[in-house]
Amino acid sequence: MKLATFHVDIQGDAVVDDATVKQDDGGSGGVLRPSRICQLAIISTTFWALVFLVRYYSSMQLRRRRPVQLVDVLHSSFVQRHSRPWPGAASLVGYGAAATGKEDDRGVTTAAADDDRCAGRYIYMYDLPARFNDDLFRDCSKLDLWIDMCPYVVNRGMGEELGVEGGAFSDRGWYATSQFMLDVIFHDRMKHGYECLTDDPALAAAVYVPFYASVDGGRYSWNSSFLRDALALDLGEWLARRPEWQASGGRDHFMVAGRTAADFIRKGDDDWGTKLLRHAFVQNMTVLVLESVSWVQTINVAVPYPTYFHPETAADVAAWQEKVRGAERKWLFSFAGAPRPGTVRAEIIQQCGASSRCSLYNCGVAGANCHSPGAVMRLMESSTFCLQPRGDSLTRRSTFDTILAGCIPVFFHPGSAYTQYTLHLPKDPESWSVLIMHTDITAGNVSIEETLSKIPPEKVKAMREEVIRLIPKVVYADPRSRRVDFKDAFDVAVEAVIDRVAKWRRNTSAGPEH
Ligand SMILES: *[C@@H]1O[C@H](CO)[C@@H](O)[C@H](O)[C@H]1NC(C)=O
Ligand SMILES: *[C@@H]1O[C@H](CO)[C@@H](O)[C@H](O)[C@H]1NC(C)=O
Ligand SMILES: *[C@@H]1O[C@H](CO)[C@@H](O)[C@H](O)[C@H]1NC(C)=O
Repeated sequence: MKLATFHVDIQGDAVVDDATVKQDDGGSGGVLRPSRICQLAIISTTFWALVFLVRYYSSMQLRRRRPVQLVDVLHSSFVQRHSRPWPGAASLVGYGAAATGKEDDRGVTTAAADDDRCAGRYIYMYDLPARFNDDLFRDCSKLDLWIDMCPYVVNRGMGEELGVEGGAFSDRGWYATSQFMLDVIFHDRMKHGYECLTDDPALAAAVYVPFYASVDGGRYSWNSSFLRDALALDLGEWLARRPEWQASGGRDHFMVAGRTAADFIRKGDDDWGTKLLRHAFVQNMTVLVLESVSWVQTINVAVPYPTYFHPETAADVAAWQEKVRGAERKWLFSFAGAPRPGTVRAEIIQQCGASSRCSLYNCGVAGANCHSPGAVMRLMESSTFCLQPRGDSLTRRSTFDTILAGCIPVFFHPGSAYTQYTLHLPKDPESWSVLIMHTDITAGNVSIEETLSKIPPEKVKAMREEVIRLIPKVVYADPRSRRVDFKDAFDVAVEAVIDRVAKWRRNTSAGPEH
């Protein structure tokens, strides 16, 4: 099996040093007069006094910021640090300017000494025992009772590479990604692409726990509740013994559980899912999920579902944006999905089927294969609006496929996106999407076609441009890459976690000294 793809790559962490320090050689020469010599003596004394002061000060800083008892040398082999400037303000196409900085291979141990673009952004990542992550893939065929997950596990959770598929995709960065692989993608993105990892917990702005909570949660869905909870409880015990945990009660810790929170809030033994978000030890942490709930104590924050696109560079993103901007959209609207009893989908399928301007891809009928990424993406790329009614839960992965396709999403419930992805999506929903309340559809007095065709063309164009601008922020860049030069969904999420922890530190004296 493809296990090898998952094994931590300890070699290869060195990065090229092409940073050069520009020396200013103020031109010398000319005759020295006595007054000049005097001046020079004063300047020279002052200079050396300053050098001494600066050195003394930085050695004090180092001592203060790096308490020896917390340094865990075991981790140093996993740590890498790229000094890379944060991508700047979004350009018109919505991604940061290409990075101009140089990478360096100075070890983490010297990281605190230079004046430091990672200041306040360091992440300490636990080196968890493999049973909490990599080992979960030892028998990937048993991860799901119904689906063979092995093809989705390869390429560090991106799945198998997709061909161009009749023009649905571009030739770079497209993979058949399962929506439940975010734990893995995130972990590898952190390992290879995050430029501010540290091996010093005392320096860290936040602590990342690379537990594959969603992979673990999925594999025993149909077994006893004891089995479903066992590994997470094991993790709780492991964490409780760590000094990093004891220093904060876990408040600066975060992890990714790449499913909807509904899968992690089981109450009774006979109910669905695990109890992850109800365990006492998780309640101080931040957990990133695909769809959050507000009624558990644990902070759970929604981040985008992983899609098929994992670009490496801003140029890959720009090329794709250009393609969907120019796509010919012959359908006013379309819907790809299956009926779900008790939802607005029956009316949607009925309205779409009855309209000559709607293309329906009914996954509920024989022969339709909605797991075919190419067919669904092609449909969205040829539609102006894409209907996104709720499915089994309020949100859908399809919403993010829609954004990739440059198709304007039409929601039927504010909880399908606006109240969920507040970190990643614009504050003003009308700038990039349409909301038609599901109650108006089921009451039978709103025509989707009429509503959409009344939107003026220039408004449609502006909305589409806004959707296209969102693409870099909702994709997860190739987790294997060390040269990602735009701000992706991962970057946005990490930044938010760090902000949250920083707020907590400011509001409490319980935070570790910084
Ligand atoms: C979990 O349930 C499945 C299906 O009933 C079964 O095949 C499997 O052996 C069970 N796993 C364990 C560890 O009990
Ligand atoms: C959560 O944090 C509080 C203090 O902020 C602490 O008293 C409590 O013990 C922590 N919980 C766990 C499980 O560590
Ligand atoms: C739709 O019809 C229902 C009852 O028939 C009415 O209460 C509601 O206000 C109508 N909604 C709109 C948007 O016209």
